[in-house]
Amino acid sequence: MSKPSYYITTPIYYPSDNLHIGHTYTTVAADSLKRFKKLLGHDAYFVTGSDEHGQKIQEKAKEVGKTPKEYVDDIVADIKVLWKMLEIDYDVFIRTTDKHHEKAVQDIFTKLYEKGEIYKSKYEGHYCTPCESFWAESQLVDGNCPDCGRPTHWAEEEAYFFKLSEYGDRLLKLYEENPDFIQPESRKNEMISFIKEGLEDLCVSRTSFDWGIKVPFDPKHVVYVWIDALSCYITALGYGSDKEENYKKFWPANVHLVGKEIVRFHTVIWPALLMALDLELPKQVFGHGWILFDDDKMSKSKGNIIYPEPIIDLYGIDSFKYFLLREFSFGQDGSFTREKFLQRLNSDLANDLGNLVSRTISMVKKYNDGIIAEASTKEEVDESLINLAVSVADKVEAYMDKLNFSQALEEIWKLIRRTNKYVDETMPWVLDKEKKTERLNTVLYNLSESLRIISILIKPYMEKTSLEIRKQLGLENEAVWEDAKSWGLLPIGIEVKKGNIIFPRLDIKKELVRLDEANQKLIDERAKKKGEVEEVAENISIDDFAKCQFRVAEVIECEDHPKADKLLVLKLKIGEETRQVVSGIKKWYKAEDLVGKKVIAIVNLEPVKLRGVESQGMVLAAEDDEGNLSLLSTLEDVKSGAIVS
Ligand code: MSP
Repeated sequence: MSKPSYYITTPIYYPSDNLHIGHTYTTVAADSLKRFKKLLGHDAYFVTGSDEHGQKIQEKAKEVGKTPKEYVDDIVADIKVLWKMLEIDYDVFIRTTDKHHEKAVQDIFTKLYEKGEIYKSKYEGHYCTPCESFWAESQLVDGNCPDCGRPTHWAEEEAYFFKLSEYGDRLLKLYEENPDFIQPESRKNEMISFIKEGLEDLCVSRTSFDWGIKVPFDPKHVVYVWIDALSCYITALGYGSDKEENYKKFWPANVHLVGKEIVRFHTVIWPALLMALDLELPKQVFGHGWILFDDDKMSKSKGNIIYPEPIIDLYGIDSFKYFLLREFSFGQDGSFTREKFLQRLNSDLANDLGNLVSRTISMVKKYNDGIIAEASTKEEVDESLINLAVSVADKVEAYMDKLNFSQALEEIWKLIRRTNKYVDETMPWVLDKEKKTERLNTVLYNLSESLRIISILIKPYMEKTSLEIRKQLGLENEAVWEDAKSWGLLPIGIEVKKGNIIFPRLDIKKELVRLDEANQKLIDERAKKKGEVEEVAENISIDDFAKCQFRVAEVIECEDHPKADKLLVLKLKIGEETRQVVSGIKKWYKAEDLVGKKVIAIVNLEPVKLRGVESQGMVLAAEDDEGNLSLLSTLEDVKSGAIVS
């Protein structure tokens, strides 16, 4: 009897930038899960894609002078190249700009509106015009925008809302009746508390930008990106089109793999939407942890992005996939370092697996002309190897049921290490010397047979290596999962073939430098391609510059601004003159610490009032991209009033 179908998804990625190893993680896990299910006989289906709409992408495109579609097309092309490099076995790459997806989302929106699940109302709040964002009273900082610090004003915007507030009880019931719906357990508890605090209706349309799917009956609104994005899990199967066979066959999804920060969208909004549409609910949402870089979040501004391409180029896809799945416990955060990666390559891949393959094949070559001969003796040490070898597949299945990739691999590696130990215990070189041919043949058979089982077990995670091992063993047939549970299937009389060393040992110091250089090279190339190289401001003439009058100024008094939390009011002595300047530096300096200090000020700016206090100039400061700020001064002590030019 054929096994039930199995549908897996990854999140669809924002093509606002190239993907780093954090993004790759989910896709590699989904890919292995699909391969595993296929190997077990399921009709497995795997959807990934790109989430292309929204204000952020519109702005990014604008920054580099492209249309949003041009911008995303370039990045989506890179993403697809990356998945090809990694031999990701997906069935559909859904783009939210695909026409059939756009139409299906419009139909979903209309259906929800007609059913009364979506209604039109007003979105009210403090609005920051430059940031195009609404903020709640509690989010404001000194009455200003928490993002840019500029003033906000009260605004109302027409918008559509989804009646999410009505779904709290049904969602709690869903979690209770389906204990595996949210995994791991800790994430479920977070969601339960979130719902118990009370759900509010969800604003599901925007009018402040237009890079999105238009609400069909009110086209000045675009559909909220998360409704657009979540729907991809069914539109990728043809839902809402005239080809719904895959939808009928694969929906509901067996598992949505997502990162921990988007569990809420998948376990609250998504099931509520599906309930509203009277559609079946996914069986599970698994929220995995993050890959951090030296315990910090990877981000472009921190300059700690690790791209997968250089790693794959230098060490191959199997090393990369193995590391991701083995090193990190799927539900938890983990820290990536290049050292850890290279150490694991040396220990698990070169020393354990690589070494086992090369010594086994070499010994069969050396002691029996490459021919697999019959095993005709049995000792206790053989029993122990055999018992372990045939039991691993079941253990792997149990761990994979829980999406515990790391433990599944650890079980396989226990067998690899046990088999290496078997070589040391049986010492084939001594058996050869002592001409104990029957025993030698048995040992060589057992080693090769264990490798045959290992080649099946690693197949979902390391397809290339699995094939290479089978080739070296002289096996021509495809790996079959059930064959990993039986001993003695390796045919007698086949000839092994010496191949390349599958995982050479690496000089970690040297490799660290190579990896770093390759990653940096790619970062630079990508920045150049996107036109992100430091923008050179338009040149100005010396006369333009001469218009600005900078002076050395001594702070003679300084106090907090009476009404604003971020501002200081400075009295500056500039030569004979005294001036008052208001400056937003309170986060970095205490008023009393500045008195007596000499700073640089521009003195011919038009006076302005900042929250009611006049400012007659500006003090200069330097700020880096991590938010460190320092006031400018002179290297040597110079009299106040000195001209800066
Ligand atoms: N577009 C939305 C998802 C919509 S799904 C209907 C999105 N995109 S994303 O590109 O920002 O993130 C996609 C996935 O990558 C998320 O699951 C996120 O957790 C994951 N990761 C991004 N950085 C990561 C790490 N450093 N480590 C592990 N996964 C991380 O959210």
